[in-house]
Amino acid sequence: MNIDGQAWRTIWLEPDGRSVGVIDQTLLPHRFTTRQLSSCDAAAEAIRTMVVRGAPLIGVTGAYGLMLALQSDPSDTALAQAYDQLNATRPTAVNLRWALQRVRQRVQALPERERAEVARLEAAAIAEEDVAMCAAIGDHGLALFQALAAGRALERQGRPFQVLTHCNAGWLATVDWGTALAPIYKAHRAGLDLHVWVDETRPRNQGASLTAFELGREGVPHTVIVDNAGGHLMQHGLVDAVIVGTDRTTRSGDVCNKIGTYLKALAAHDNGVPFYVALPGSTIDWSLRDGLAEIPIEARSGSEVTQISGRLLNTGAIAAAGESAAMESATVALTPEGSEGFNPAFDVTPARLVTALITERGVAPASEAGLVGLYGDLGGAGG
Ligand code: MRU
Repeated sequence: MNIDGQAWRTIWLEPDGRSVGVIDQTLLPHRFTTRQLSSCDAAAEAIRTMVVRGAPLIGVTGAYGLMLALQSDPSDTALAQAYDQLNATRPTAVNLRWALQRVRQRVQALPERERAEVARLEAAAIAEEDVAMCAAIGDHGLALFQALAAGRALERQGRPFQVLTHCNAGWLATVDWGTALAPIYKAHRAGLDLHVWVDETRPRNQGASLTAFELGREGVPHTVIVDNAGGHLMQHGLVDAVIVGTDRTTRSGDVCNKIGTYLKALAAHDNGVPFYVALPGSTIDWSLRDGLAEIPIEARSGSEVTQISGRLLNTGAIAAAGESAAMESATVALTPEGSEGFNPAFDVTPARLVTALITERGVAPASEAGLVGLYGDLGGAGG
């Protein structure tokens, strides 16, 4: 997608053919910087610290992380260690395990001298497939949005088709296009008059910082709202559809996504607003049925709740007071000293609250029958 007219992807092989480039998402939206990852340790650290994030992108970074590990040591022991190290970085998004297993399976029977190169090819294939899957999700979602917008023409009374989204499931969370944002980009490019309500998505604010950045650079009309505003907007008929991504989807259609997604689904259900979840097949965990009981929820530091970071607006005043004017970003305390924060990073939305799943293979009900209908040739046949 575009940043100031230039097309970018979130991850690429550097010209040296050995290291991997990524966009540092911890500095967005205020600073656009890229980073070069040259070792498995660096790839693991980038995932852990959320330099890269979003389920599909974590998977691709993990795949390249195995390549980086095998470049310096192609032995079985190094492969096993790198797999465990990368797999332990973030527990919820199943794409990471899926991509690591795929690369490991591809290389483990090969002679050591061939492993790094084959891992590179496999990681590149996973990245290309992710782009194709996200573009296809966009096409299926576009058709859905066009039909919904036409069906709600009377209620809309000339106002844009309004979509609410939570967290960032855009191109920054994938390799390109995104999952939940792909239909939005395709609809905008197709000329649908649309406007996006962007949940800020506390505590890390991926909506306010990343989704708003993406939509702004693509020229999609949008407004950032506090997480608590969505229900109110729905009650007043100002949301035509909700669309979010998912980090892990069970075979029964339960979806696990950024904390707060469940509350949006409840509000949507109460107000008759359709609630869609967009996902590539790599996000389905065919081994699980009960999302609430079985999906591991990442516990992040309470300091993400008790503190907040941003760009200082009053640097002039600070400089006048004798502080360093170069200091443009800051982390500030929100809570009294001594108050603890609790920070589960994801929640589970039961399938019954999901209107439909939008996948690269088409739109299906959020149910085992719906998923098996689309993916019977993959894990869907077993279990
Ligand atoms: O903690 P994050 O920023 O990695 O969480 C990302 C999300 O929750 C996304 O909605 C999800 O990964 C789907 S991305 C296409």
